[in-house]
Amino acid sequence: MFSSLLIAASVVASVRAQQSSSFPAGVIATGTQGITNPPVPTTGTAINQTSMARLLSINSIDDFCIFAPPYLANISDTEQIEVAWCTQQRNNARLIPDGTLTGVSFLKTDFYVQVYGYGDFTKLNIVDGDYGGELDPHGATGNGNPIGGNVTTNIVDGVDEPIAEWMLYIDYNQFCLRACTNANSTYSAAFMCWHELDEMGCEFVMPGNYDFNGTFETCEADVAYPPGWYPTATVDGTTSFSTFAQYATGYYTGNDGSTTSYTVGTTVTPSSAYFTPSSSGCSTVSTVSNGVALASLGVSGSGAAGSAAAAATGKASGTTKASGAGASATGSSAAFRGARVGYGSGGEYAGIALVSVVAGLAAIGLLH
Ligand SMILES: *[C@@H]1O[C@H](CO)[C@@H](O)[C@H](O)[C@H]1NC(C)=O
Ligand SMILES: *[C@@H]1O[C@H](CO)[C@@H](O)[C@H](O)[C@H]1NC(C)=O
Ligand SMILES: *[C@@H]1O[C@H](CO)[C@@H](O)[C@H](O)[C@H]1NC(C)=O
Ligand SMILES: *[C@@H]1O[C@H](CO)[C@@H](O)[C@H](O)[C@H]1NC(C)=O
Ligand SMILES: *[C@@H]1O[C@H](CO)[C@@H](O)[C@H](O)[C@H]1NC(C)=O
Repeated sequence: MFSSLLIAASVVASVRAQQSSSFPAGVIATGTQGITNPPVPTTGTAINQTSMARLLSINSIDDFCIFAPPYLANISDTEQIEVAWCTQQRNNARLIPDGTLTGVSFLKTDFYVQVYGYGDFTKLNIVDGDYGGELDPHGATGNGNPIGGNVTTNIVDGVDEPIAEWMLYIDYNQFCLRACTNANSTYSAAFMCWHELDEMGCEFVMPGNYDFNGTFETCEADVAYPPGWYPTATVDGTTSFSTFAQYATGYYTGNDGSTTSYTVGTTVTPSSAYFTPSSSGCSTVSTVSNGVALASLGVSGSGAAGSAAAAATGKASGTTKASGAGASATGSSAAFRGARVGYGSGGEYAGIALVSVVAGLAAIGLLH
């Protein structure tokens, strides 16, 4: 929880730092690529099914990458060391074996690009039946889950742009990935790619048409509300929203060595997003294939680089999942806590972030 408070505060800082970018503040990543990555996205790189590179590019239905384990593992045990698997040879990454994906939807919206799909992700080293987990550029250390994981897209202006805020949910048969490419004073990139609802499923966090298994489609789509936002009222054309903190309990150890329990959020979590954005102008292709016969090259899809020991540090606590009907603590009436957010003419992100900080602190304070 404390790491997320720092993240909320850092959102404010990044918003202020990037006024000169032609993109809205907070959209473009300003750091360097992670040390396992090529310095820039690169096409046509050699096949390497033991690669540890962690650079995703999300450009089109047949040119995108996702994170999955470097060796057979559950996602929650390997969040810090997932590696990039791409549909094409690029970024020094591993190749997604043909036949892995059974359906993909690639959505372009004014605020984000979203690619989500179905498949047999045991071919990408995920344990059969694994509930999966949530990956994002923050993580327990602030260096990302996976550490040094990066994302680019060229869908906005044809140029590979490093994207600051993204989130990926993946389990053994489903994934959903959003990279936030725009922002305005209502929606910061950080909120549109809000990463703290890791017990909610893809359908909740990234609402859209999920009835596409067996189809490979590219669509334009309306912009969803940021994950967990619910409109409460519109006055003079200005919409207010409420949101909630995912219910979570845990323990932290203070500087004096004492252990304190905390509870954040409500015991009642909404079970679905406020609305499902519609998509339009869809085009389909019959499948997504790179045509590489990995087996005939003497390599399987799943090279086993790394070791279980390397994954043992900093394991995320709590369960996460990519699919499913929401958190275990669902109920019929949605109780919202914390941030009521609106917008004015400036400083809104700061206002929103600070409300989150205050709500989080208050929740912890209650248990002291
Ligand atoms: C790469 O990821 C790290 C960790 O999240 C981040 O600090 C850095 O800004 C990213 N760099 C790029 C170019 O995306
Ligand atoms: C494949 O990736 C691994 C891990 O990054 C690296 O050690 C190895 O040299 C790469 N192999 C080739 C042929 O590039
Ligand atoms: C994956 O998680 C399940 C359930 O916790 C566990 O039984 C299984 O041993 C794990 N598999 C691996 C390869 O770690
Ligand atoms: C920001 O964009 C969203 C989605 O298009 C829109 O609903 C909202 O009104 C915009 N906010 C402002 C202040 O223009
Ligand atoms: C998607 O379709 C494939 C092929 O029909 C099927 O094996 C798989 O179970 C489906 N996935 C889901 C999540 O329904």
